[in-house]
Amino acid sequence: MTADAVLNAVCEDFRRIHGRAPAGVWAAPGRVNLIGEHTDYNDGFALPMALPQTTVLAARRRDDGLLRLHSAQGDGRVTELAVADLAPGGAGGWTRYPAGVVWALRERGLAVGGADLHLDSSVPAGAGLSSSAALECAVALAYDGLYGLRLSGPELARVAQYAENAFAGVPCGVMDQMASLCCAEGSALHLDSRSLEVRQVPFDLTGHGLSLLVLDTGVAHDLGDGAYASLRDGCERAARLLGLPALRDLSEGELPGALAELPAGLVPLVRHVVTENARVGRAVGRLTAGEPEALGALLTAGHASLRDDYRVSCPETDLAVDAAVAAGALGARMTGGGFGGSVIALVPAGQAASVARAVTRAFAAADFAAPAVLEAVPSAGARRIA
Ligand code: GLA
Repeated sequence: MTADAVLNAVCEDFRRIHGRAPAGVWAAPGRVNLIGEHTDYNDGFALPMALPQTTVLAARRRDDGLLRLHSAQGDGRVTELAVADLAPGGAGGWTRYPAGVVWALRERGLAVGGADLHLDSSVPAGAGLSSSAALECAVALAYDGLYGLRLSGPELARVAQYAENAFAGVPCGVMDQMASLCCAEGSALHLDSRSLEVRQVPFDLTGHGLSLLVLDTGVAHDLGDGAYASLRDGCERAARLLGLPALRDLSEGELPGALAELPAGLVPLVRHVVTENARVGRAVGRLTAGEPEALGALLTAGHASLRDDYRVSCPETDLAVDAAVAAGALGARMTGGGFGGSVIALVPAGQAASVARAVTRAFAAADFAAPAVLEAVPSAGARRIA
């Protein structure tokens, strides 16, 4: 569907469901992270880019304090919640993300009330491409518009992250929300997760004859199941033992000395975070020098670190990386939180189809379900579209 057709359909559906026209329509994208995984909650660096896939949200303010939610991907029902009664645990399924954002805005002391919302998302869910952040950010931006809040991208990202942490119960960092809100077309976003300072780093794939494939393994990842939280705890414990505010404050040069002081169980976690932060710096250097093809080796090294040290890969993501590289990808790695989800592969554009076929063949030979393949094009961050 063209962007116009999506917009018309969303407005049409909104009218049918809510009985009047929307006051505006917003869109917020999913993301892939090029490098800098599990660094955000260590105050570190990341380099995500927005996908063309977005959550499109039509919205209109209500003055009776009700939040009425409908999703084209839902079960057809409208969920009705009283904004004044919103509390963590008080909404289920996908509705906890929009409800959480409205709750988080009010927790921040902002006098926001009800709204009618209807959304339609093309961001695949459970694929590690931040479909929940896209949803949160679309709602945050729509509320900003409907209620004239005038919050900045980083402020809205903090609201959305707080909604996910404290309302939906997922202890994520801030990268996904910053990516969805702050990315720009044609660029990757160099994010400092401590200061929330960002820099747009031009990422011209086509100009360099490159293509970035997303291979969705179909293994649903769930960051709320405890493994993510325990990794995060491990990192925070290591920082405390080292007397540092966060692992971001440890340099590659200081790493050997620091590792010698830590209990064995924390060593691989710290090694991953510190080397991964350094890889982000190198990746930005390569992109700035106009050498995006040099990202390949960094991607593959990042995957090895996530597989061997951080241990968040799985047989499907490992196989996708190995098969892509064997078939001619310049580099590949899992992207996002891990435990399943998607792999990105940087490939010469002419080889995109053959690399995708090789990965699909390798999956069939291993008795894994066929991966879904998308092309990642560096796209715009969240915006109002009507
Ligand atoms: C998930 C979280 C992010 C980040 C990544 C790993 O996507 O939501 O905050 O921690 O995992 O880099």
